[in-house]
Amino acid sequence: MAEDPDRLPARGRVKVEPCAPPERIAALSLHPELNIFRPPKRQHEALVKIAGSEDGCVTLATDGEVIVGYAAFHRPDPFERWGRDETGGVYELGAVEVAPEYRGQGLARRILEETFKTGRFDDKIVVAALYYWHYDLDRTGLSAFAYRDLLTRLYQSVGFELFPTDDPDIFAHVENALLARIGPQTPEEVKRSFEALRFTHEEGPWGCL
Ligand SMILES: CC(C)(COP(=O)(O)OP(=O)(O)OC[C@H]1O[C@@H](n2cnc3c(N)ncnc32)[C@H](O)[C@@H]1OP(=O)(O)O)[C@@H](O)C(=O)NCCC(=O)NCCS
Repeated sequence: MAEDPDRLPARGRVKVEPCAPPERIAALSLHPELNIFRPPKRQHEALVKIAGSEDGCVTLATDGEVIVGYAAFHRPDPFERWGRDETGGVYELGAVEVAPEYRGQGLARRILEETFKTGRFDDKIVVAALYYWHYDLDRTGLSAFAYRDLLTRLYQSVGFELFPTDDPDIFAHVENALLARIGPQTPEEVKRSFEALRFTHEEGPWGCL
């Protein structure tokens, strides 16, 4: 069936800007429907902050002066399990989001591909934890399982793999999953650190006393 160009606003026009500088992000506006993780104003501020942090990277998809999609990479928060990594080589893919009218056109994949093409994460492990409470089930009409599988395929297409873990937030919900991309030049000590953090054998909140 012929494509209706009105339904494809993004094709050919949207630019991807890997690891954009914070000033660039601040100068653009954020699409009002990029609101899955936070209200757009707060998310815009958060992206500027991440891009300006020493270890942060925010890749943008822009349509003119509007950010219509992004992926944010950063060191994990210290209170998180992955934040206990002491090698400095474990990163987190904190969020990927594409505005609803721009979805289904390969934009999320382009954002991730362009980021990894920079080589910035070649010696890093990037962890992506899938939590069903972040899934956009209302707009997609998908089940949490189907959504998890969609994200898994998306991440696998750019080199992520599924890993088991005893992290209770992930292990306790089958709709959640842990993926990680091990960069081709990742040092052994970073791999060992990630392995140790995947299974810490701590009790979950349901543990017996
Ligand atoms: C997940 C999300 C980033 C995907 O963005 P996108 O630009 O539409 O993704 P792409 O077009 O690159 O498609 C990626 C894959 O998902 C599939 N897909 C996308 N939307 C889909 C839908 N509604 N139903 C089924 N499959 C879908 C695509 O077919 C593609 O898979 P394929 O290569 O096997 O065909 C977007 O839906 C979104 O912003 N969701 C809300 C936030 C979120 O869930 N972020 C991820 C957790 S941090």
